[in-house]
Order: sequence, then structure tokens, then C-alpha cells
Amino acid sequence: MALEEIKAVPPFITLEGGEGVGKSTQQHMLVRRARGLGLSVVGTREPGATQLGASVRDLLTTPGHDHPGQRSELFLYLADRAQHVERVIAPALEGGQVVICDRFADSSEVYQGRARGLGVEWVRRLNRWACGEVWPDLTILLDLEPGLGLRRVNKRQGELGLTTDRLENEGLEFHRQVRQGFLDQAAAEPTRIKVVDASMPQDEVALAVWALAEPLLKEFKRLTA
Ligand code: TMP
Repeated sequence: MALEEIKAVPPFITLEGGEGVGKSTQQHMLVRRARGLGLSVVGTREPGATQLGASVRDLLTTPGHDHPGQRSELFLYLADRAQHVERVIAPALEGGQVVICDRFADSSEVYQGRARGLGVEWVRRLNRWACGEVWPDLTILLDLEPGLGLRRVNKRQGELGLTTDRLENEGLEFHRQVRQGFLDQAAAEPTRIKVVDASMPQDEVALAVWALAEPLLKEFKRLTA
């Protein structure tokens, strides 16, 4: 169905934050709750949601000798995103489905633009070009002190017998830059980006996330009823 044929454009919601903030868990809970309203919802993530993206994710996250340089890294994330938008997100929105995505464009602006030092404005321009018309209506930033987040990641990986990935292995200062980058973005775009304290127990974080997303989802449901 073309966008103009449906009464309202479905919300596109993203979750963002540093390592170990609990994004994936919160994304799954939010998708379930949104479906509970009777909405058709696509839950997705970056990097790695498409077939091409899965290969890109391996290149990006696996520690190794021939790891991507800073500019290559940015273009790999952008390639993953362009494919994701074209193959998954835009078709879902055009088909009237809500999209809830674990990480999106803000991650590149913060990790590559800010923490890697490539320049937030420059990355934003490339992001806009990679995403076309698609941009989040609501971004929920799960904020957590990075030392705590990294300890959570190490604990989880240890329990699963896995090693940490290439970006998780960056030093604490890198992850402090990431946290501050996200907070600065939220301060610059307070209408779109809402901050939730991710140090709270999981269920309380979920309630705070739901309180932000529910009005948008219910409004969409009302318009399409
Ligand atoms: P994940 O841990 O949320 O699965 O994300 C994988 C890693 O990729 C994480 O360390 C953050 C990083 N990342 C970027 O650096 N730039 C991006 O644009 C995205 C989407 C993720």
C-alpha cells in the first residue's frame, strides 16, 4: 500500500544507548507491548538485519587484524543502514506497520562522528543521504554510566562463554564520549529524543519506555481504526 493511501504514517521508533544499557531487552518488551495494542509491528536492529547486513555486522564487530579503519567503519554502518531502510524499514512503514529498531542513525553520529572524531555534522549528512525520507519519530535513549554498562556486558558474555566485540573492547574514555554524545544529541533534539535512566530495574525502565511510546502508538491506532 502506498503511503498516501493509508490514513496515518506508522510511527518509527528507535532505541539508542551505549554498551550494556539493555536496549535489546527493552526493544523486545516494547515490541510485545505494542503488538498487545493490536498493532502490526516490525522489530528490527542495526547492524545486521538484512542478509547483506549480517555480513557487514561480522566485519564490524569481530576483533581481528584487518579491522576496518575509521572511515571504512562509517561506510560499513551506512551500507548496512541504507540496505536496512530500503529492504525492511521503508516497506514496513509503507505497508502500515509500526517499526521499532534497536539502534539507528544516531549511533553512527555518536560512535563514528563523536567518539571516533569523524564529525557529527558530516556523519549526519551522510546518514540523511543513506536513509532518504526515513527518519525516527521517537528515539528513546537508555542512559547508563559506561563503567556499569561494560561490567554488564562482560558478565553477560562470560556467562554465555562469549568474548567481547571490537567496539566493546574500546577503552572507558571512548564509551564516556559515546554517553556524552548521546546526551548532547538529546539536549539538541528534545522533541524527538527522550532520555530514560537505564540504571533502574528492568521493569521500571520498561514502564518508562512504554510511557514514552504508548501515546504515539495509541494515536496511530486511533487514526487507523
Ligand atoms: P549492538 O551492541 O547494539 O548490537 O551494536 C553493535 C556495535 O555497533 C555497538 O558497539 C555499537 C556499534 N555501532 C556503531 O558504532 N555505529 C552504528 O551506526 C551502529 C548502528 C552501531
